[in-house]
Formats: sequence, C-alpha cells, structure tokens
Amino acid sequence: MLYRTRAATGDTRTFLSAIVRHPHQLGAIAPSSKAVARLAASVVPDTPGAVVVELGAGGGVISDAIRDRLPPGGRQIAVELNDDMVRHLRRSRPWLEVVPGDAGDLGDLLTRAGVTRADAVVSSLPWTLFDDPQQEHVLGEIAASLVPGGRFSTVTTLAVMPIPRFRRFRTLLDRTFATVGTLGPVWHNIPPALVYTGTRAAAAGRPEKAGRDLPEPRR
Ligand SMILES: C[S@@+](CC[C@H](N)C(=O)[O-])C[C@H]1O[C@@H](n2cnc3c(N)ncnc32)[C@H](O)[C@@H]1O
Repeated sequence: MLYRTRAATGDTRTFLSAIVRHPHQLGAIAPSSKAVARLAASVVPDTPGAVVVELGAGGGVISDAIRDRLPPGGRQIAVELNDDMVRHLRRSRPWLEVVPGDAGDLGDLLTRAGVTRADAVVSSLPWTLFDDPQQEHVLGEIAASLVPGGRFSTVTTLAVMPIPRFRRFRTLLDRTFATVGTLGPVWHNIPPALVYTGTRAAAAGRPEKAGRDLPEPRR
C-alpha cells in the first residue's frame, strides 16, 4: 500500500513534468484515475498465458490495473514513445516489459519482442493529436495485431468528443471492429472520461474497412 502511494506520487510527478516538456505528445492534463484504469483494463482476458499490449503507458496507472487482472503466466507489454516515461516505467515497475517506440510501428515492435498476436490492446493514446492518416494507420496496426475475437479499449475524455478529429476516430472504430461499446463515464476523472471498447471479428486478417471511403467529418 505504502509502495503504491509512493509510486502514484512519482507517476504524477513524471506525468506533469512530461506535459511541460512534451505538451504535444501527452494529450492530457492529468494521469487517468484508477476507476478509468480499471475500465480500460476490463478487456484483459482471463485466459492463462494471455498477451496484453498497452499503448501510451505514461505514468503506469493503467499498467497496474492490467497487472491486477492478467492471469499468471500472461505477458504484459507497454509501448511508450516518451523517453522520460520509459525511464520512469522501468524504474517504478520492474515487472513490466517496456518497449520504447511509436504505436504506429506496433507490428514491428511486437515482432522484435517475439509476439505474433495480442489477445488485448489497451490504449490511452491521444487520438485527437493524430492527423487522419496517423489515426487510420495506428488503428490498422492495432487491429492487425489482435487475435480474431481479440479485445481493444481506449480512454477518451468527454471534452474531446465534439472535436472533428475525435468524431472521425469514432467512425474509424466502427469500421475497424465488429462490435464497439462504451464504459463509463467516470465523472470524477480529471477531466471526466469514458472508455471505448472494440472486438475484432472472429475471422483472421487485417480489417478490410479501416480507413477506406471515410466521410469527411462535419466542421
Ligand atoms: C494521455 S497520456 C496517458 C498516460 C497514462 N496511460 C494514463 O492513462 O494516465 C498518453 C500517453 O501516450 C504516449 N504517446 C503519445 N503518442 C504515442 C505514440 N505514437 N506511441 C506510443 N505512445 C505515445 C504519451 O507519451 C503519453 O504517455
């Protein structure tokens, strides 16, 4: 408990310092609350030996929630772009397999880590900071990395939902996953947030619809 309290303080300090140094990478004003982290991690399967990939692990609050759910023998990989966050995650969570890199290179990063497919991908990536091609590309990489029937979750704040880039991302979710759902909102998160979930179709292969013929968002 004491360890967790100290770790949480360090998580927040690292997060706030990263916001100051890299405001265009973070896309958030505070780390996710534990309640949001638990919702995001709810897609982690209870299958022994499951592989779970987290994208944008940041200070590590969602990493902890994933760890709490992952059955023994599972593999938990955290992809993170920001060097300060990578150092922080390695220092504060020696049990976590931290892979420095860009979520857009997910397929290559997983291949180098010896992973063929993930059972679940949990994201808190700042989708509204990504331009349209980047959104399509990253979501395509995620879908291609999931086993058939694999689960996806992503945290979003209510504040970004009216933004055209978010609405386009929402459309992409529908085109990429067989089913899309929401969990939350969590009102006491700063700012209030909810979690989108997606499930890959049972058939294997890259999504056929992702990124094609998408209507322009209304401005
Ligand atoms: C909104 S913060 C979420 C941090 C933490 N998971 C949480 O929920 O509090 C987004 C995180 O994604 C990372 N990030 C941004 N773009 C990324 C990318 N292309 N690939 C991997 N990580 C990225 C940022 O460095 C940051 O740590």
